[in-house]
Amino acid sequence: MSSSDTYDNQNIAPTFLIIFGITGDLSRRKLLPALWHLYRNGFLPAQFRIIGFSRRDFSDEAFATFVREALVDTFTSADVKTVRNFLSLFSYRQGHFDVKERYVALGEYIQSLEHAYHSPANKLFYLAISPAHYEIALQNLHDSGITKHEHSVHPTRILIEKPFGKDIHTARALDEKLGKLFKEDQIYRIDHYLAKEMVQNILHFRFSNFIFESLWNNAGIEKVHIQLMETLGMEGRGKFYSDTGALRDVGQNHLLQMLAMVAMENPGKSDATHIRAKRAEILSRLLPVENLSRDVVRGQYDGFVLGDDIESDAQTETYFKIRTFLDTPAWEGVPFILESGKRMRQKIARIIVYFKRSPNSLCMATDSRSCQNTLTFTLQPQEDISIQFWAKKPGLSNEIEPRTLHFSYREDTPLSHLPDAYERVLYDCFSGDQTLFAGTDEVLSAWRFITPIIEKWHSQPLHGYLQGADGPLSESFDAYA
Ligand code: BG6
Repeated sequence: MSSSDTYDNQNIAPTFLIIFGITGDLSRRKLLPALWHLYRNGFLPAQFRIIGFSRRDFSDEAFATFVREALVDTFTSADVKTVRNFLSLFSYRQGHFDVKERYVALGEYIQSLEHAYHSPANKLFYLAISPAHYEIALQNLHDSGITKHEHSVHPTRILIEKPFGKDIHTARALDEKLGKLFKEDQIYRIDHYLAKEMVQNILHFRFSNFIFESLWNNAGIEKVHIQLMETLGMEGRGKFYSDTGALRDVGQNHLLQMLAMVAMENPGKSDATHIRAKRAEILSRLLPVENLSRDVVRGQYDGFVLGDDIESDAQTETYFKIRTFLDTPAWEGVPFILESGKRMRQKIARIIVYFKRSPNSLCMATDSRSCQNTLTFTLQPQEDISIQFWAKKPGLSNEIEPRTLHFSYREDTPLSHLPDAYERVLYDCFSGDQTLFAGTDEVLSAWRFITPIIEKWHSQPLHGYLQGADGPLSESFDAYA
């Protein structure tokens, strides 16, 4: 992450962030709060502008009101002057994504700002729009000339949200298009899970602690369980979700990126090129899931089809659990279990690493979990790392019991504000650090693994589960739970 370490926000050229789809859900929930926190903590470039580009017709004033309302809960403890200064960074240009002339007009506006700053600017175009508009927006960005990448001193970058395609075929087509229009160092493919504090920490933890590093393979590890469980349901995204399903929505990207961080080899150097290459390499070693009835469970919560914009016979999965393996000598035979669901009992995202039991253990096993050590990286709701070990019960008996070593980010760090993943995404894009963005090989390998499952798994039962449960009850779970 070398570029971030040298990012000097006071002396960087004027930087313009142009957000396409700024009135949308992602922008309101994630981007605007992230920008506010970066501003408050002094991490925005000193000369900075945010330009909204969307279909709605707004004057700059009406747009400032929109931003203020979107952030009303976030502004609570801020003084009026700070809020006013922050809002003065924003301006708005109306445009339809398929009308090239609006891009030309946007380009003229950007040029007028550059004149005002007496300097060319770094320009970051954030596509917070429906993937259905990606192709046309990318083409128009290119054809209108506003993304021209003349020299790396004042770069132009494109930030693009997942999903990148619907399967390997559409992802490849999108990737080819991106590759024709822009250079790879201009393309920032966002997977915000990579930017989560705890996901970043996995590499630091693994490669800074020899006691774990030496056990980090099939000699020491029995299995790895990666979970992203949410209590939320559709939140107004019924149409998108029923066409997408849980596996495409979070499996192809967030869960596989967590797997990559756990299983990749030591990159040797902590820069974007080395880290991305190692993530891509391990994802290319995912073994295809051949026995769907044994290794895959899919489910749908009761009441899903009653949601807005959802067909009454929709077969969309809102839950999945998949067992997979990696084709490398280090990981041969170690199951990786990927599990995610909506409307679950608890909101939790975590990775549990189960270590093997010692063959010479003195442990008097009372159940199958006895004397097994586990290491858990919890991403949310609270970031922490915990290790379960076994110790003798205090007193005269010789019984042993599980104990936990625990490190909590929020309780044990001096930071009053732990940056959200989107703060990190934006910050790294300002500084030109692509480490936490997915490279083209990673995206394609992930689709190569997911696509055959999606193509075949309709032959498998879609299990119902109650809202607030831990997922469907299914016999195949127990084989590897
Ligand atoms: C998004 C998915 O990528 O990730 C959502 O589209 C999901 O469906 C979200 O809710 C989870 O992200 P987080 O950061 O809230 O755990």
